[in-house]
Amino acid sequence: MVRKNKKANKANIISIANQKGGEGKTSISLFLSEALSEKDKVLLVDWDAQANATRFFFNSVKKNIFDCLGYRGAKTIPTSDVILKITDNLDLLPSSIALANFTTPFGVEDFSLLKDCLIQVQEEYSYILIDCSPSLGLGLENALIASDFVLVPIQTRAFSVQGIGDLYSTVDKIKKKANPSLFLLGAVFNQYEETRSLTGLAQGVKKYFPVFDTFIPRREGIPQAQVKRKMLKDCDDKIRKPFYQLANEVRERIDVQKK
Ligand SMILES: Nc1ncnc2c1ncn2[C@@H]1O[C@H](COP(=O)(O)OP(=O)(O)OP(=O)(O)O)[C@@H](O)[C@H]1O
Ligand SMILES: [Mg+2]
Repeated sequence: MVRKNKKANKANIISIANQKGGEGKTSISLFLSEALSEKDKVLLVDWDAQANATRFFFNSVKKNIFDCLGYRGAKTIPTSDVILKITDNLDLLPSSIALANFTTPFGVEDFSLLKDCLIQVQEEYSYILIDCSPSLGLGLENALIASDFVLVPIQTRAFSVQGIGDLYSTVDKIKKKANPSLFLLGAVFNQYEETRSLTGLAQGVKKYFPVFDTFIPRREGIPQAQVKRKMLKDCDDKIRKPFYQLANEVRERIDVQKK
């Protein structure tokens, strides 16, 4: 189910990536894509075999992103046949456990299978957000090759800086070897608690990435909303506001970069 992006430009494709588990990739992908969809046409891509973003909306899906890839010579179906409508301005490209098979590259073409999938629908949207899995492997490399931008959710706690250097090296490698226009949009601090100082963590992260001005606070309502499948528009202001602010900052940072 695809309707035209009125601007008729190609979508800005953003990987939401961090190889550490539980940093907030899926939560930010879900609510940021909904916030962006208030003004723009958005496709949320579930690029994780855990299929957490898909399960937020559906108990099960008939077709999933793995059917579009053509991995190891499998028959492909068009991306638009797999896309599901969520709201007028928000669509989902769902995942399933089948994506767990996508681990080993057999040829150079296996690094751009996601890109080939998304190119088919890139003119239909203003933003495409890719909710990545917690890994540095073939899945992440595909996402980075398909993307214009990377946004890195980082949980606000002591050891979150560990591993950031590895993520930076992967982004840098893809930029040099396969996708020179890839741009690191920045890190978004998640689960921020007012009582805790961010200075040390922010300094550690800033060695590698710019840091967004918007922080996402820790709110119990966020996991609760996910259990109840409550969309951002139905959450209270304390949850909604930071995600709308983040959506505005994402728009601004992308506009500055494209000038
Ligand atoms: N700001 C927040 N406040 C409170 N809980 C949060 C917040 N952000 C995320 N969570 C919760 O933390 C858990 C992990 O978040 P999430 O699933 O978004 O991380 P992830 O990076 O996608 O994980 P994975 O690496 O497994 O894909 C979830 O239960 C989620 O509801
Ligand atoms: Mg996730």
